[in-house]
Amino acid sequence: MRDPATRTVSVNRVDGRLKVTGGARYAADQPVAGVAHGHLVLSTVARGTIRTMDVSAAERAPGVLAVFTPFRPVELRGSGNPFSVGHSWLPLQDAEVRYHGQAIGVVIAETFEQARDAAALIRTGYDARPPAASLPGGVPGATDPGPIMGEPARLEFLAEGVDSIDAALAASEVTVSGRYTQPIKHHSAMEPHASIAAWQDGQLTLWSGTQSTTLTVGAMAAALGVTPAQVRVVSPHVGGGFGNKIATWAHPLLAAAAARVLNRPVKIVLTREQTFTITGNRSGLEQVVTLGARRDGTLVAVKHQAYATQSASGGTFEAPAHTTSRYLYRSENIHLDQRIVTLDIPPPTWMRAPGQESGSFALETALDELAIRLGVDPVTLRLRNNATIYPGRNVPWSSKHLDECYRVGAQRFGWDRRNPAPRSKLDGDWLVGTGTATANYPGERFPASVRIRFRADGTVTVDSATADLGTGMWTVLAVLGSESLGLPLDRIRPDLGDSTLASNIGAFGSGATASTGPAVAAAAEAAIAELTRVAVTHQDSPLYGVPVEEVRYDHGQLVADGTRIGFRALLGALHLDQVEATGNAGPGPEHGQHAFTSFGAHFCEVRVNRWTGEPRLSRITTVVDAGAIINSKTARSQIVGGVIFGIGQALLEGAQLEPATGRIANANLADYLLPVNADVPPIDVHFLDHPDILFNPLGARGIGEIGTVGVAAAIGNAIHHATGRRVRDLPITLDKLL
Ligand code: MOS
Repeated sequence: MRDPATRTVSVNRVDGRLKVTGGARYAADQPVAGVAHGHLVLSTVARGTIRTMDVSAAERAPGVLAVFTPFRPVELRGSGNPFSVGHSWLPLQDAEVRYHGQAIGVVIAETFEQARDAAALIRTGYDARPPAASLPGGVPGATDPGPIMGEPARLEFLAEGVDSIDAALAASEVTVSGRYTQPIKHHSAMEPHASIAAWQDGQLTLWSGTQSTTLTVGAMAAALGVTPAQVRVVSPHVGGGFGNKIATWAHPLLAAAAARVLNRPVKIVLTREQTFTITGNRSGLEQVVTLGARRDGTLVAVKHQAYATQSASGGTFEAPAHTTSRYLYRSENIHLDQRIVTLDIPPPTWMRAPGQESGSFALETALDELAIRLGVDPVTLRLRNNATIYPGRNVPWSSKHLDECYRVGAQRFGWDRRNPAPRSKLDGDWLVGTGTATANYPGERFPASVRIRFRADGTVTVDSATADLGTGMWTVLAVLGSESLGLPLDRIRPDLGDSTLASNIGAFGSGATASTGPAVAAAAEAAIAELTRVAVTHQDSPLYGVPVEEVRYDHGQLVADGTRIGFRALLGALHLDQVEATGNAGPGPEHGQHAFTSFGAHFCEVRVNRWTGEPRLSRITTVVDAGAIINSKTARSQIVGGVIFGIGQALLEGAQLEPATGRIANANLADYLLPVNADVPPIDVHFLDHPDILFNPLGARGIGEIGTVGVAAAIGNAIHHATGRRVRDLPITLDKLL
């Protein structure tokens, strides 16, 4: 086990050379002999029934092998499921159109270009109906979505003698209230989704960029009507996921089903435009937050109502109110209310910090408004309301250092030099302002297994079926393997992204390191025990017959009774290729006694052009309390990436849905704006070092999502400080500042 006194290491990515030399094979890069190419056909209306599909020209086009449509479907079973295939239907199994850009056909041809060109020849007739495709102001028609993550959609904690949240608000000395909106957003991973499916003797191998080879196996097996043992999913490198490479979506299902019929491997690579409608989005939201406080800044009532877009085709909508306002600050009275608005739009799915990203924007902006109303410093206000008990569960946090995040961050940033008055600083043509907000993300941990093999060539493999989305998991496995076995990093061979490796649910919920890390230590212990057993029971071993308890493991060597032998020499002497063992780790029953959450504080400085309204960021400081940090280099990258994700939320991103057609008008990376390097200021990332050993023996929570949370509010708050303008509708574009 990692010694809690171990100082954080900082090493380069072990897969870095592969990535920068093009040696890392992503799903579409896999060379598969005889592969045919599929191209999806998407609906051009948002709601209705397909009446006809004329595929005759497409079928005659050069290189075309087959055209599948609802009238000539591939075989898929079941009814879909938002958690496994992203929506409540399976492609080509009926003629219904649920949103603009839904998969309604697939053309298979010898080349990608032939498939794409043939797809353009298909003529589709619809019985179209007018879609509902915008989240209207006031959100009529919102409905109770049922339980959210096991909690009722409406959750309320009231102090004794208080009848309702509105009564608590009415009794408050000061209240602020705001309505906050944000548009539907897209994950926009650098690697578009792709799958290659190849069958051999009833066994499917699927190369597919996924955050979970395990979940993909389950979804594929169910839809194809085969057993999980008949499916292998391979995904060693993933070019970003952000949540929309968890569900399995239409392209792997269609590739595998078509490959089975054609008896030939099939590859489907989505175009960038197709990824916008086929692979999910983050719900658009309206949120109303009302805060009640005493004049000294003590919160007494938090009311947070949220309306999130859902798709008529199913999906996993955003749940902001519950995941942030429930526990971020102490309040005697808390009311959370989540509703969904079902529209004829592509399905929502999980997107980086689902709930926290959106909920924190509303709550942390409202808190800034309260600070200004009270004349209390925004940092002071947050520290005054620091929660220590998790509402409703009445348990303390295992390790919470939000106060230290704010103290350290304020000092690094120079917060105390701030003049609190809005519009108080001008630098040439630029209004300068600063803002702050809290970051948070729950500590998630899942059961995980790791297999360790001592090998005759002197190396050690450390493998698990987890994923690396660019997050650094290859390197984390190597670092923890090295530490657990006392061997140099270059003797460790990590392996991941293959469903045949040691069992692992995958990478999401910021839980990959926290889940897999403890299993590395367990596997090391088990592998050392197995190596020792082999050494004392094998007649050709120099340690033959020595009692197990007298054998000590020391940096790759077994030591007993004056004898010392390295595992390489031992395996050589015994003519063994390898000795292996698997270790498991997961949360125990004691896990329920604490709440596990990572916290952080963002500080940012913006400059807003006084004539054009153009907002530019000039610097950001982010301090994160996420427990132990395993590799500070990749960890810093994670937080920087999260903050940049938040810059997109704050200033740039949003689907432009045409209300009349339900079409996403900006489904490409020229019109869907993402932060580029010129939008990103210097980002100062600092980690507190408080290992959370109540959470897991490694002391590490997660860092994949927290960096995003709170960024939009911090930026919006800084813009208010710079300009005196409060913008409650994201993204904050220059037209809103004029
Ligand atoms: Mo995350 S939205 O659990 O990939």
